[in-house]
Amino acid sequence: MAEKAILEFLKEEDEIPDSQVFAASVGIDHTDLENVIKSLRGFEIIESLDIKKESFVLTDEGKSYAADGSPEVQFFLAVPPEGITRDDLKKKLGDNIVNIGLNWAMKNKWVEIKKQLVFRKVENVEDKVKDQLKKIEDGEVVDKKEDIDALKKRKLITLQTWKAYALRKGPKYAPERKKAATDLTREHLQRGDWKDLEFKEYNLCAQGQPIQVGYLQPLLEVREEIQNIFLQMGFEEMPTNNFVESSFWNFDALFQPQQHPARDSHDTFFLKVPAATRQLPEDYVVRVKRVHESGGYGSKGYGYDWKREEADKNLLRTHTTAVSTRMLYMLAQQKPFRPKRYFSIDRVFRNEAVDRTHLAEFHQIEGLICDHGLTLADLLGVLEDFFTRLGMSKLRFKPAYNPYTEPSMEVFSYHEGLKKWVEVGNSGMFRPEMLLPMGLPQDVNVIAWGLSLERPTMILYGIDNIRDLFGPKVDFNLIKNNPICRLGLL
Ligand code: PHE
Repeated sequence: MAEKAILEFLKEEDEIPDSQVFAASVGIDHTDLENVIKSLRGFEIIESLDIKKESFVLTDEGKSYAADGSPEVQFFLAVPPEGITRDDLKKKLGDNIVNIGLNWAMKNKWVEIKKQLVFRKVENVEDKVKDQLKKIEDGEVVDKKEDIDALKKRKLITLQTWKAYALRKGPKYAPERKKAATDLTREHLQRGDWKDLEFKEYNLCAQGQPIQVGYLQPLLEVREEIQNIFLQMGFEEMPTNNFVESSFWNFDALFQPQQHPARDSHDTFFLKVPAATRQLPEDYVVRVKRVHESGGYGSKGYGYDWKREEADKNLLRTHTTAVSTRMLYMLAQQKPFRPKRYFSIDRVFRNEAVDRTHLAEFHQIEGLICDHGLTLADLLGVLEDFFTRLGMSKLRFKPAYNPYTEPSMEVFSYHEGLKKWVEVGNSGMFRPEMLLPMGLPQDVNVIAWGLSLERPTMILYGIDNIRDLFGPKVDFNLIKNNPICRLGLL
């Protein structure tokens, strides 16, 4: 309706000089008209020039005086020749009109007060205020600046700014708008009507849709950073694609005795089907059994009856050290021996009560170096190098115990945010009872360390509940909006 009004008007006339006036003349709300103007202008059907207009409008008070007369004139007319009290006037006109009217009638010297009575001082008065207000209401001009100023001061009028447009035909003007096609379709080509169609122009300034790409989960993000750190330090990644392990590789080969509490079903998930492993390297199994039962290689062993059924039990691996053990065993079979640096980052499982910081599964990061004559100093050095690259350069070490390492150390790092030392990993030198039965040369040592992937990730991303990081409750928007994380990579 607004569109039709504009286009038809411009068919006959060159210009709509003022859209406000035009809107009023055709009885359309100017905001509606404005929307149509913007759309027509976008399609170059019309051209428009912005005009800013200022004009005075009456306030509510001004409107009432324009209708009923100014309060001073109402007051004057209510005063009879014999005089009247103010209270009687108030009964006739109301408090407001009397208060304002008396004030102005006195200023104008129209009335006087004698002995509590109000008398007229002049015969007739003119209501100039009412006349001026009516003029403004009708859109006429009030010439004298002091009149305008007086009305403004009495808050009977205010200045209003209007936005309006001057309109003309645009290059694509037509008395009726053709709907522009947005796509060239197969049907257009078949019918041949594409020749007569008008196509919508590309709007190169329009905002694009957010790109739908894949997003890395924070754990994967940090995993990649840590992978890079290991690769830069010359480590090779171990294959970690078997979540199911035998107890043999998870515990026995690590010189972890069969009655160790970690091997209880309260701590470890054992498999029902298949409950037992089918193959183990038999000659190595014999050596492992012997070292548990009676020792050797300078060790006394544990002195108990080692049971094959216990070693055969399948489980969900409780640490990635099971993988390291397999790899070391394979390395020991290669002659001549060649030093190696290995790492892994993958999932492990423990039968734990789930809370804010624990799940029954998590990721372990593990690094190891296998070489001739390594010492505890080498371990301290490599830990310092590794953790510094992770952004944790203030380190402390505390003696610890693992069945498979001696000596063992827990690693603590000073957390600047928390202002305290937090445990960040576990480490040690693998025992001869573990390495020598594999067939590694006598003078070869292995230094190793492990930590969880979740811990540094939670610290880096400021997540304090592990369930917000891993599992079904993770908010996808968190993953989408997270910055690509940077560790202390040099
Ligand atoms: N396997 C240990 C753990 O699960 C970590 C570790 C790895 C400790 C290597 C020493 C050496 O906590």
